[in-house]
Order: sequence, then C-alpha cells, then structure tokens
Amino acid sequence: MKNVVITGSTRGIGFSMAKEFLKAGCNVTLSGRSEAMPEAAHAELASYEGKYIYIQCNVQEKASLHNLWDASMERWGSIDIWINNAGQNTPHVFSWETGETYTANVIKTNILGMIYGSQIAAAGMLKQGHGAIYSMEGLGSNNMIQVKTILYGTSKCALTYFMKGLARELKGTGVIAGRLSPGMMLTDFITKNPDGEQSEVITDEKFRKIFNILGDRPETVAKFFVSKMLSNNKNDTQIAWLTNRKAAWRFMTAGFRRDRLI
Ligand SMILES: NC(=O)c1ccc[n+]([C@@H]2O[C@H](COP(=O)([O-])OP(=O)(O)OC[C@H]3O[C@@H](n4cnc5c(N)ncnc54)[C@H](OP(=O)(O)O)[C@@H]3O)[C@@H](O)[C@H]2O)c1
Repeated sequence: MKNVVITGSTRGIGFSMAKEFLKAGCNVTLSGRSEAMPEAAHAELASYEGKYIYIQCNVQEKASLHNLWDASMERWGSIDIWINNAGQNTPHVFSWETGETYTANVIKTNILGMIYGSQIAAAGMLKQGHGAIYSMEGLGSNNMIQVKTILYGTSKCALTYFMKGLARELKGTGVIAGRLSPGMMLTDFITKNPDGEQSEVITDEKFRKIFNILGDRPETVAKFFVSKMLSNNKNDTQIAWLTNRKAAWRFMTAGFRRDRLI
C-alpha cells in the first residue's frame, strides 16, 4: 500500500489515476486549483472515504505545492509516489497570436509547476530515504513539432529534459524519477479550449479521424500507468501507453475504430 500525491487530479487522467490507486488500496491526495473538489468527483470516490484527501493547490505557486506536500505528509506519514500531472494547453492558434496570459499559463503550469513540484518532492523524499517522482509528458516530449501547438510542445519538451536530468541527479539515492507518456486521451484538455468552451479541433474531420484511431479514455490509460508505477523501482523509466508499435497496429486495424470516441 503506497501513499500517492497527484497534482491536477480533479478530472481527466489525474482523477482516473487517483481512482486506480485507491482501487489498488493506496492512500491518495487529490488536488486542483479550486478550494473544494467537485461534488461529482467526491461522489465517485464515496466508497474510499478515509483513503483520500483533497488539497487545494495551484502548481504555479511554490508555496501552494509546499502546502500540498506538508498536508499529505501530515495525513499519510510518508509519500511514496508524487505525480506532476497538472497541465494546460493554449488556444489552437499560431505562437505569435497567443495572448500573454495563455503564454504565461502554459509555461508556469507545465514547466515551472512541474519543476517546483519535483524540487519539493525530491527534497522531501531524500529526507525520508525513498520515493518516486513522475511527470506527465505530452506532444513535444519526443521533439515532434505541430503547428499551433508549439508553446505546449515547448513545455513538454522541457519537461522531458528536466525529468531525464533529475533522474541523473538522483542516481543512487533511493529516490527515482520517471515519465508517463499517455498518447491521446478523451479529456477536457482535448474537447475544450483553455476557457472551457468547446475546442475547435474536435470538429476538424482530420483530427477526429486520427483521434478515433489513436485516442483512448483516460480510465484505460490510468489502469496501465498505475499498475506499472506500483511495480516500478527503476530510475529514469518512461512508462508509455501509445508506443510506436501500438500506433502502427491501430492504423492497421483503423476500420474497426471509426467514431469510437468523438
Ligand atoms: N488529454 C490528452 O490527450 C493528453 C495527451 C498528452 C498529455 N496530456 C497531459 O496530461 C495531463 C492531464 O491532462 P488531462 O488530459 O487529464 O487534462 P484535463 O482533463 O484538462 O485536466 C487537467 C487537470 O489539471 C489541473 N490544473 C490545470 N492547471 C492547474 C494549475 N495551475 N494548478 C493545479 N492544477 C491545475 C485541473 O484541475 P483544476 O481545473 O481543478 O485546477 C485538472 O485536474 C496534462 O499534463 C496534459 O498535458 C494530456
């Protein structure tokens, strides 16, 4: 039984991972920017009362992440797995058309928040003598460039560099660092723009076609990630859901996957 902290776990893959960890008997700290977790999320976790807490945490603020660590330590006594999952996207426009707030948010959340979270988790885990830190990769982690998504891609490219470097720095300490690579998932991140309105990409025929072939529901990916994280004790691991092999197979069998998600 492990104690787990997940940033950005009010919905999407973060929430699905929280649920999977709870199913596996772990204690979980969920978090997000709101003061309270959405009622629907609480209702879904009703059978795990006492096994989870919700802590408000905006990863853009280091003090907020410190509080997330401290409150989790106070509740669980130690933290075995810390996941930097909170992430934001920008509107689907060229980089030079992206507003200042969107530009700052994607960098502050996906890079700064992930670095602050890792710094706090690494320092705390080194003190307790063990632990694993994971961060959520995304488009850009493999250096792929997609126009109108390059600010997000820049952030995930940096995330991967940082996590590989962190793993190197932690070598031989008993604390490990790794990356989670989810592929494409049907979450608000895809279906909505950063302001919460329906995203224009999901009405794009080409995007829908590819998404229906390669995409998955977050619950499916979470199940895979959680079982891998619970058995992993290797440093510098990438736990990848949508491998090149799986993607090739999906394309070969694409005829069976029409309209399956959006
Ligand atoms: N969906 C995909 O296809 C896909 C693909 C590759 C990678 N990813 C990555 O997966 C991660 C989760 O994405 P998702 O698809 O599950 O998205 P999502 O459904 O939009 O969920 C995003 C989560 O992040 C939280 N969040 C956003 N900004 C935050 C901040 N400043 N501080 C704390 N929490 C914050 C949100 O919580 P509140 O709104 O409650 O604060 C929410 O729980 C992200 O890192 C994303 O880049 C997603």
